[in-house]
Order: sequence, then structure tokens, then C-alpha cells
Amino acid sequence: MNTRIAHAGLGARLMPAEQAAGLIRPGMTVGMSGFTGAGYPKVVPQALAAHIVAAHERGEAFALRVLTGASTAPELDGALAKAGGIEFRLPYQSDPELRARINSGQIEYMDIHLGQVAQYTWFGFLGKIDVAVVEVAGILPDGRLIPSTSVGNNKTWLDLAEKVIIEVNHRQPLGLDGMHDIYYGTALPPQRKPIPLLHPGDRIGEPYLRVDPAKVIAVVESDAPDRLGRFAPPDEACRRIAGHLVEFFRHEIRAGRLGEQLLPLQSGVGNIANAVLGGLREGGFRGLTAFTEVIQDGMLELIGDGTIATASATALSLSPEGVDEFVRNIAHYREHIVLRPQEISNHAELVRRLGCIALNGMVEADLYGNVNSTHVAGSSIINGIGGSGDFARNGFLSCFLSPSMAKNGAISALVPFVSHVDHTEHDVGVIVTEQGLADLRGLSPKQRARTLIAHCAHPDYRAQLEDYFDRACRLSRGKHTPHLLDESLSWHQRFLDHGSMRA
Ligand code: COA
Repeated sequence: MNTRIAHAGLGARLMPAEQAAGLIRPGMTVGMSGFTGAGYPKVVPQALAAHIVAAHERGEAFALRVLTGASTAPELDGALAKAGGIEFRLPYQSDPELRARINSGQIEYMDIHLGQVAQYTWFGFLGKIDVAVVEVAGILPDGRLIPSTSVGNNKTWLDLAEKVIIEVNHRQPLGLDGMHDIYYGTALPPQRKPIPLLHPGDRIGEPYLRVDPAKVIAVVESDAPDRLGRFAPPDEACRRIAGHLVEFFRHEIRAGRLGEQLLPLQSGVGNIANAVLGGLREGGFRGLTAFTEVIQDGMLELIGDGTIATASATALSLSPEGVDEFVRNIAHYREHIVLRPQEISNHAELVRRLGCIALNGMVEADLYGNVNSTHVAGSSIINGIGGSGDFARNGFLSCFLSPSMAKNGAISALVPFVSHVDHTEHDVGVIVTEQGLADLRGLSPKQRARTLIAHCAHPDYRAQLEDYFDRACRLSRGKHTPHLLDESLSWHQRFLDHGSMRA
């Protein structure tokens, strides 16, 4: 008996990936596991891509609607996109092959708050889920599933899909068993009840995913690592952003608005987020908590040294060295980490109640505090909104972080008018660049503009922004949020004319 597949009935459905992929037919909606490059199926999508290429060679149409937790990896998004096998994709993505096809108009992409995907699916807004393809670390004798390195939307896909394909990945550590908390108490309105989670580390569900064995049409084995990205060491800009934030937290503690343990941190993906976490350690903070989406290397280190006592997330997203450390000390991390479905990790009710401090990257902000997290020059998507909106709108503090210029200085991250709006001025509390920190709380639009220019703009752009704002204040018809609309849009046109544009 395969020790990872302990349920006899499911063991009998073991088959090669090629055969399992053959059960997925053109036009189907497929819910796949995977969140920030962790816990995605490793072999079925690649076999599926080969089937799709073969079908296209025979002159047959073959494309799918692909739903995931968040970004996956080249073996899933990359392989299916390259094969021309995706007609619709949701939600967050970061694969270069997929992004290029979304931006060239070949693939329809729906960007949606990560915390809302599950309820959208339950409401029926996304149609029927034909097949779920879910990676797990193992199958118990009673058929329940030991989740993998991410939970994402797996509960939703397993509950709602007509058929299920399970990938059992022998590479994922069995020590993950017990780290997850799958909450089965959600319901649709008007039957919804409060979610009984009061602290980030609370366990309110069960450690395993349920699946109806009758729906499982295939079990496949894999033995491959997650997409293990590496982080660049924090550069000077990242360190300065982290420094401004830590100073701000100290200021808020002195003002009595935050305690020494702050409030549960949500930390976005990427190098800046990692640098901020490092800054917290250097700032001498201890016993913090995190209620976030992803645990990256930076957070793992902080859990290791006691800076963070408890972290709730939906996925791990580690470097190869991070994985080694995690596996080496998995029993310790199991005491301090809870992995949940993303509908819980990103739930508006919980983010509001816990009072999260939301720390997210941005592409640009405008003078009034509207933030673009997703688009280059208004029309090309980078990754997607991810969970930034779930936390920014509902958190206690909503902070957006970015260097003050992008593309080697070709464009300012502070512009008169954002080219795309993900977070409105009403959801943005604090903006930080390497130049400084603008606390926008309690300010009117014009006060926000002055604060942002003074604290966050790069000196190379400050005079132009001041000039724009002064003239807008004089010439704009309305004086509440003064704008010269034709001129504000020209900032991006100038970048497109002179800068390099991402595909
Ligand atoms: N104008 C034009 N391009 C810009 C830009 C601007 N103002 N700011 C950044 N970019 C470009 C960068 O040059 C880079 O392009 P390249 O890869 O072609 O060089 C790209 O956008 C990504 O920028 P990078 O500096 O690598 O940023 P990052 O890793 O710090 O990520 C976001 C910044 C905004 C892309 C990232 O935070 C994100 O995807 N956010 C949305 C999702 C989110 O917030 N999730 C949080 C919950 S996990």
C-alpha cells in the first residue's frame, strides 16, 4: 500500500498523468490548486498542455476556463498558456507567458479580490466547475486529504466541482499534517453566521480537506518541488522604505494608537515586503502576529527568531533555502503557522475585526491617494490585485509601498492621475516611498496632495508635481479635487513615448 494514498478506493483510481489529463475535455471550467507558486498540480497540467497541442495539430479547438487560488508556475499557467489552452483565467497570475497572452488580448482575464473568489463561485457567478485538479500531501484511510503547501480555493473546488483529480505530491513534507485549518462553517446569505476567529492563531476548523470519493475520477502521483523563487537582497530603496515604516510604527505606539505588539500584519509579496519584515526585526519588535496570505522567507525567519509569534496565511512561498529551513524545523513551525482557505485568510469580516496592518506594494499613486497596483500605463496588467484590496479596504491601517520612481527614473510613482484605479483614495491611509512617508489619514484631497508631494515624490519630479497641483488649484473648475484632466493623462503618454513598455 502506498503510504501517501491510504484510502483503498482512491488508490484504485491511481493512473498516469497523461490518462488523467485525458479526462479534461475542451470548454471545461477547471478549478486548480495553487497560490503564489505553492501547492499547484505539477504533472496533470503539463500532460493536459500536451493533449491540447495535439488537438490543435489535428485542427480541433481546445481551450479551458482556468481558475486557481492565485499565481501558479510555468508547469501550470506557463504550459497551458503556451499551448493556447486557456480562454479565461481567474484570479491573480504572475507567469510571463500567461501575462503576455492576456496583454495581447488572446486570453480573457478576470482580476478579482482573492477573498471573494470562493463566494463568487458559490453564488454561481462563475458557472459550473467541471473538474478540480488539486495537489495534496497525502490521502488518509478515510479519504480526507492532507493539504499541501497552499490551501487557496481548494475547499471550494473540491466542494463544488463535478469531478475531482487529485495529485499526491511525494515531495511535499508529511510534517505539513496538522498545520492547516479548514473551516467548513461558511454559508451563503442569509444563512451566514459570524466566523468564530478572534486571534490570528485560532483554529476553528479541521486539519483536512473533505472530498466525496465518488467524485474522484483520478489520482496521480508527482514528485516535484514548488516554484521556489529567490529574493534579491534588499536594496537601498527597500531599506529606506522599511526604515520609514518602522519609525512610523514607533510614532503610532507613542501616540497610543498601536501597542508594542502592533496589530496583525498583512504583508504583500515581493522584495519590499521582505525588507519591511527584516526592518521590524532590526527595530526590536517581538511577539508580533501576522494575519496574511503568504508566508515568505522573511516571515519564516521572523517566526524562527520570535519576532512573529503566530502567523495565519493560505500559502507558503519560499526559496529553496527557505524550504530547507522549513522542513528541518517543521514541528516548530507547525506550532506557529496556520494555513487556511483564502476565503478565510482574506475575509473582510476577519481583517476588519482583527484590525490588520496592510502592507502592500503599488505601481503608482496619484496626488489624492488613489492607488494603481496592477497596470502599467493603464492598459497592460502586471499581476493582479491579489489580496491587497481585501486588506486595504478593511484593515486598521492601509499602507502602500513603492520606490518613488520606476523604469530607471523614466516615470514617477507619484502622478497627477493614476492610469488605473485599484484602491480608491478612501481605502488608502499611508503611502511610503524611499523619500518618506505620507500619513493621509484625516486629510482632505488637497491636504493629501501637499503631503504626498512633500514626503513621497522623488526630487526629480517634485517641482513638476507642485507646478501641476498649483495650476490645477487655480484653473480646475471644481476646487475640491483639482485636476487638469488632459494634462494629467499626458504623464503616462510621455512615459510610453520615451520609456520601455512591458508586453
Ligand atoms: N510605471 C510603470 N511601470 C512600473 C511602475 C510604474 N509606476 N512601477 C513598477 N513598474 C514595473 C516595474 O518596472 C516592473 O517591470 P519589469 O518587470 O518589466 O521591470 C514591474 O512593474 C514590477 O515592478 P517591481 O519593481 O518588480 O515591483 P514589486 O515586485 O515590488 O511589485 C507590484 C510591485 C505592484 C507589481 C506588486 O506588489 C503587485 O503585484 N501588487 C498587486 C498584488 C498585491 O498587492 N498583493 C498583495 C497581497 S499578497
